[in-house]
Amino acid sequence: MNSTETFQIRPMQADDIAACARIMAENRLWQRYHVTPDTALARFEKAFNEKASILVAVFANRTVGFCWYHPKGAFNRSGYIQLIGVDPDCKGQGIGKRLMLAAEEIVALVSDDMFLTVSDFNTSAQAFYQKLGYDFVGEIPNYVQPNITEKIMRKKLVRTE
Ligand SMILES: CC(C)(COP(=O)(O)OP(=O)(O)OC[C@H]1O[C@@H](n2cnc3c(N)ncnc32)[C@H](O)[C@@H]1OP(=O)(O)O)[C@@H](O)C(=O)NCCC(=O)NCCS
Repeated sequence: MNSTETFQIRPMQADDIAACARIMAENRLWQRYHVTPDTALARFEKAFNEKASILVAVFANRTVGFCWYHPKGAFNRSGYIQLIGVDPDCKGQGIGKRLMLAAEEIVALVSDDMFLTVSDFNTSAQAFYQKLGYDFVGEIPNYVQPNITEKIMRKKLVRTE
């Protein structure tokens, strides 16, 4: 991706599903959670059919990232980022940040906070989230998978309505 070219952030459409599933299934992070190409595809198809809140980043007609969030997904009160992924070819170019900021902007209409969980071994995503203003506020051992601790992170949002 050339630095003078831009990408677009918009809600996921049906023809983004395959690319989002591929980004998820090819990542070693989610392979540790036993995600396969078939389960990733089924997950995004179901999410799309259920009108889940998923933003995608599109560059040159190619879907290169996604951010799946829930406006009241944490404690039925606060925003929650369920999953974010960027195509490895496009990492480090601001796409993940733009996806997160877009989700935060939408959630800030209804909530003062955003929460997320991140695997204890995923220090790269932890650094990314810290850069965006998320703080560690707790952890849940053996939650999604045995022997993996999910670290809980929180960011105060500036409520816009
Ligand atoms: C984590 C992830 C979403 C980041 O997306 P990205 O597009 O590469 O990140 P960006 O280019 O938007 O980076 C935003 C900022 O975070 C910083 N950052 C990103 N990764 C970082 C790292 N590993 N260490 C330190 N800082 C990092 C960038 O330097 C940038 O800082 P800046 O705003 O000062 O320039 C992406 O690497 C990814 O898909 N990882 C695999 C899946 C994953 O771990 N998802 C999270 C758990 S669900």
